Amino acid sequence: MKPFSAPSPFSLVIFGASGNLAKLKIYPALYVLALKKRFPGDYAIVGFARTEMAEAEFRKFVEGAVRAEIPEVNEKILESFLSRVHYAGGRYDNKEDFSGLAKKLWSLERKWNCSVRLAYLSVPPMVFSQVLENMFAGGVHDKKIPFRCIVEKPVGHDLKSFEAVQAQLLGFFKNEEIYLLDHYLGKEAVRNVYYLRFANPVFERLFKNSLIHHVEIAAMESLGLEGRTGYFDHTGTLRDMFQSHLLMMASLLTMLIKESEDTIRESRLNALKQLYLPPAADLNDIILQGQYTKGKTHGETVIGYREEDDIPDNSRANTYVALKLLSREFRWQGVPFYLRSGKRMGKKETRISIQFREPHVVGEGGAPNRMDVILQGEAGMRLHLQTKIGGTTPAFRPLILEDPLVCMGDCLPEHGLLLLEAIHGKQTWFLTPDEVRASWRIVDPLQHHLEKEDTPLHLYPAGGNGPQEAVEWAAKDGVKWMA
Ligand code: BG6
Repeated sequence: MKPFSAPSPFSLVIFGASGNLAKLKIYPALYVLALKKRFPGDYAIVGFARTEMAEAEFRKFVEGAVRAEIPEVNEKILESFLSRVHYAGGRYDNKEDFSGLAKKLWSLERKWNCSVRLAYLSVPPMVFSQVLENMFAGGVHDKKIPFRCIVEKPVGHDLKSFEAVQAQLLGFFKNEEIYLLDHYLGKEAVRNVYYLRFANPVFERLFKNSLIHHVEIAAMESLGLEGRTGYFDHTGTLRDMFQSHLLMMASLLTMLIKESEDTIRESRLNALKQLYLPPAADLNDIILQGQYTKGKTHGETVIGYREEDDIPDNSRANTYVALKLLSREFRWQGVPFYLRSGKRMGKKETRISIQFREPHVVGEGGAPNRMDVILQGEAGMRLHLQTKIGGTTPAFRPLILEDPLVCMGDCLPEHGLLLLEAIHGKQTWFLTPDEVRASWRIVDPLQHHLEKEDTPLHLYPAGGNGPQEAVEWAAKDGVKWMA
């Protein structure tokens, strides 16, 4: 089968081209696509940012970003890729700078027949509307060429601001031009949560409330802010990680499996809408927040959150959140879902763990069955069973069936795969506005609660497993974190 690639010439404009996301994720992903020969002969990648930079300097910047993530590059391919990289600096509120960008695009595309223009918006929310307006006013969006506007999550800051962003987007673009991106949906491992169920009906028999005690969905990171202080201090972990990534994983696990790929978005949305906050007199019983202090990760001392540059000494931003949810989906009714995510934890791991109910006959050493699907970190699948050890009385030891869940086929970095899909006009693994709405509906009241001065913010040392209070919080429900 022909590998998935961009079939004909395209241009991609990256707004926020000198930012962290572009540096860490987008440029390395684009290089990998070039390396794997997924680009046509003619294409252009044009960075746009406020920083004044000559084109050569920008190419150096992109080169540095690629080399930092991919230690062994193919020099020839990197050189050829960089020759397609261009820069057009300017102000987001200046129409003239956008006209300059449009001219640049035309002069590049003049030599070939451009089949699609894409704009990747990785810019702070306050300049978002200016970028949209000027894309039109300056002629970057041109009716003669198919267009895709890709917007990174979190889209908006809450439901209200999302509606404002969405209204602006719709003021300029048609639905089929808007691509709301959650990069977790570009991860093979995350998509596999759905496909594991699809391809293994045996799991479907096991995934039901009469058998399951609880589910844990964890996204732990050992990294801290990686220079994104301004963004993060206003956002926090609940909005940054739960609003899309964790809720999407929960919906992929609980959505109804249907035959056709065309219904994936609809089923994901339905599952998301079925998630709800358990009724509780006190919201502290269903959500808990923390913030890291000085500690050690991978043997190195790291500073606490409030000591990071540009973070106020009294910041109450959460870097850890644990949340309890329920689903109305008939097979999952009554099963508690514990979602948690933290920065500066002991290790990077993204995992779904399903703990089954206690065994009928418990002998010495017996423990409930459990299934782990580890999506990032040491990716793999583990089924925790029990086997009898020899002797006249039943006593058990754990039997763990394990296989690494390694992508072995056509594996592309998530931003690369999503970009190719956007080029093809495939929206299946992009968020629908209704999904974003449904997520904000869950997150908004929680965020409001966490921001209250009297809501506790538990401190935890960097490099550990989060706040001790989170362990006790889960223990009240008879739940023990699974790693
Ligand atoms: C991003 C968040 O969406 O996901 C970051 O903004 C976070 O704060 C990142 O670090 C985690 O992504 P990944 O792919 O490393 O799990």
